[in-house]
Amino acid sequence: MSFRLNPRFLTHNHRFIIYCLLSLLIFQPILFLIYLSLITPLSSVEHCRTNNVRINTNSLSDQLHSQNLNTDQHHISANTSDISNILQFSPRILCWIPTTHERLDRALVIHETWGKRCDRTIFIIGRHRAAKPLNRTIYPFSVAYIGDEKIEKYNRLSEKVLLSLLYLYKRYINEFDWFLKADDDTYVIIENLRHFLRRKLSNSTGYFGFVAKTRDRPYPSGGAGYVLSQTTLLKLGEQILTKPDKRKLCRDNEAEDVNLAYCLARINISVANTRDQNQLETFHPMTFEEHFLGKFSRWVETYSQFDQKKGEKCCSNFTISFHGMVPRAMKLLHFLLYNIQIAQI
Ligand SMILES: *[C@@H]1O[C@H](CO)[C@@H](O)[C@H](O)[C@H]1NC(C)=O
Ligand SMILES: *[C@@H]1O[C@H](CO)[C@@H](O)[C@H](O)[C@H]1NC(C)=O
Ligand SMILES: *[C@@H]1O[C@H](CO)[C@@H](O)[C@H](O)[C@H]1NC(C)=O
Ligand SMILES: *[C@@H]1O[C@H](CO)[C@@H](O)[C@H](O)[C@H]1NC(C)=O
Ligand SMILES: *[C@@H]1O[C@H](CO)[C@@H](O)[C@H](O)[C@H]1NC(C)=O
Repeated sequence: MSFRLNPRFLTHNHRFIIYCLLSLLIFQPILFLIYLSLITPLSSVEHCRTNNVRINTNSLSDQLHSQNLNTDQHHISANTSDISNILQFSPRILCWIPTTHERLDRALVIHETWGKRCDRTIFIIGRHRAAKPLNRTIYPFSVAYIGDEKIEKYNRLSEKVLLSLLYLYKRYINEFDWFLKADDDTYVIIENLRHFLRRKLSNSTGYFGFVAKTRDRPYPSGGAGYVLSQTTLLKLGEQILTKPDKRKLCRDNEAEDVNLAYCLARINISVANTRDQNQLETFHPMTFEEHFLGKFSRWVETYSQFDQKKGEKCCSNFTISFHGMVPRAMKLLHFLLYNIQIAQI
């Protein structure tokens, strides 16, 4: 800047224009740098993604995670068609929820809260397709009908779970990396599930949840939800579910989650721990209140793999699920998590 300016000869307007020009000169490179730093991590992950590498670049995932936690929220409320743009940097998650026709109101609350955040959500009902289709205005979500009414009538939940997994294996095995089972009274923080799954390989065998133990083997609490890798469902489908003679490898005399663990153990697949790096639980078999206040059920006290803690140590900061949530409590938690913000002052 070699020209000389004598301030006395400048009108207010001239000064303003010169300020503007100077600020542009000074800030333009800075803006460009900010722009670069914003697009770089995203494009490198896209690159990873196209090469099918979605693994342990922890620091990168962490950066991305904090970005996504913020952007997901805004984009979801602002413009739904933007969701897929963001989630394509994440594992593809299919959420499936066994429910019944009598409990469609619960399905509706899940659809309105956390269900929308999965890449696909399917409610599974154990009966033949209803003669009269559901009113899509009232129930605007996917429902799959499998099996027949007997499954619901005699409470054959283990059979319903295996039939559901067979259905998902046949239709969706190639489309999704992870298959999350949750009950219709489970609340799942999908962003934290993604955060957890970004560090796992969906092409290796394994499944995750809140680990409980019986005498002979660990199993994931069905209520807290569990997530099967694509390869796990693939092997279960190929080696057991599609082979009627092999189906007897799976028992049906205990709870759904125990039986599934038994079944997967027959092909050497076992449930893995989901506690965070500070040994705090991420999947929870009870409500937040019960965990926080330490009101553990007898089942939790007897069968949890690890001693449960109350207070702030009850729950990882990246908690994934709570169970036993009535619709009202789900709406409440959802509002607290996604609407309430802490002002940056
Ligand atoms: C799983 O995928 C990763 C990344 O693409 C690859 O490095 C690894 O070899 C794969 N593992 C198996 C068992 O296919
Ligand atoms: C949402 O975004 C997409 C692509 O950016 C655009 O085509 C669409 O019109 C937007 N929809 C609304 C409701 O703003
Ligand atoms: C579906 O429900 C809406 C809202 O209650 C109602 O206006 C509409 O007529 C119903 N549609 C059918 C096909 O019953
Ligand atoms: C499971 O592991 C055992 C012991 O390593 C092995 O003998 C068996 O063949 C395996 N079964 C399957 C189905 O991979
Ligand atoms: C969890 O978050 C709180 C609030 O940000 C923080 O003070 C605490 O250190 C975090 N806990 C862990 C284990 O990171």
